[in-house]
Amino acid sequence: MSGEGHMRSEDQKEVKSMKFPEGFFWGAATASYQIEGGIENNDWAEAGRNAKVPPAGIAADSWNRFREDFDLARNLHQNAHRFSLEWARIEPEEGKFDSNAIEHYREVIRELKKRGLEPFVTIWHFTLPLWFSHQGGFLNPKAPEIFSRYCKHIIRELSNEAHFWMTINEPEVYASNGYLRGTWPPFRHNPLALIRVTNVLVKSHILAYKKMKAANAGIFIGIAKNNMDIEANWNPFFKIVAKFMNWFWNERFLDNTKDALDFIGLNHYIHKKFGVSHKEEATDIGWPIFPKGIYNCLSKLKKYRKPIYITENGLADAKDIRRERYIKDYLRWVWWAIKEGADVRGYFYWSLIDNYEWAHGYAPRFGLVEVDYKTQKRTIRQSVIAYADTCKLNELKP
Ligand code: BGC
Repeated sequence: MSGEGHMRSEDQKEVKSMKFPEGFFWGAATASYQIEGGIENNDWAEAGRNAKVPPAGIAADSWNRFREDFDLARNLHQNAHRFSLEWARIEPEEGKFDSNAIEHYREVIRELKKRGLEPFVTIWHFTLPLWFSHQGGFLNPKAPEIFSRYCKHIIRELSNEAHFWMTINEPEVYASNGYLRGTWPPFRHNPLALIRVTNVLVKSHILAYKKMKAANAGIFIGIAKNNMDIEANWNPFFKIVAKFMNWFWNERFLDNTKDALDFIGLNHYIHKKFGVSHKEEATDIGWPIFPKGIYNCLSKLKKYRKPIYITENGLADAKDIRRERYIKDYLRWVWWAIKEGADVRGYFYWSLIDNYEWAHGYAPRFGLVEVDYKTQKRTIRQSVIAYADTCKLNELKP
């Protein structure tokens, strides 16, 4: 780990009394396609059948085993949980909503609340129903209408069950992997399409927000935003690149939607310093470990004057040798950001259980809980005890 990523000296002094604000939400996050299993009618399942990405199959079978998963979260002293709804299950045909799927998710939310876990619901986490992807997905001019109709239906049916809702997970990650890098459906390499999709996602969120609030003014609506910590070395060219990237990747969506956001969800994983070759310790999938990055991101989000929930942060660590330190180091910087005025109200580790890591398949192990995919046996990882203590005490111990 680079020197910069370590604690400041004052931080070391304070380490014994790192209390978090009262009512802080502690939890972990998941997403439907990554854990539920048995989903065949979305764009990722189709790409799996065409051998363009690994098939997800029955995943961690959480469609059936969600109660067991929530017991684990409760046993780890969590008091909140972030999960997502599968659009293809709820609207399997255009405009036709499946009431069994809605009832399933109603049950999911109720089972969370029974265990004292506050539900944070993501309405759309990357996967599209086939009928929508076949109509061009978010390049379809009607996409904002189609997406907001789905969101409105959800709120009409389920908003009495939960208070916290996120429309979209990681707009720029979705758009860049699908339309520029071409590693995710629909596998395009087209910068113009990337820009168009990001614009349509802004419009889709704003329209969805209006319709959702009209259906239930009392709910709290946000976005799970993929912000990176971006900086540059001394080189003026790299400084300009970093400034542009910071605007495009971190700020553009928020600047355009800030009047339609009750809170910001921060998903943070990546630190990038232009002009400096990577020298930090890395996770199993090569992502740099740089705890101060989360502090930098939170500090920059202060200007939006919105409550912030860290809706994802975590690492792939199959051997479970870095997880405990990782969580503590990132949380220390979260604590510092709060101390310096960032209105952070919750932290969700990614992920509660091992799951389908998109184009990487099942090899990366992000879970607090290990899943044996042959038997579906869940085993709490050793490293996680310290995080469970933090959740229990609402305080970070050294
Ligand atoms: C996504 C998750 C993903 C995680 C780790 C985020 O980009 O929201 O779906 O599994 O990061 O890559």
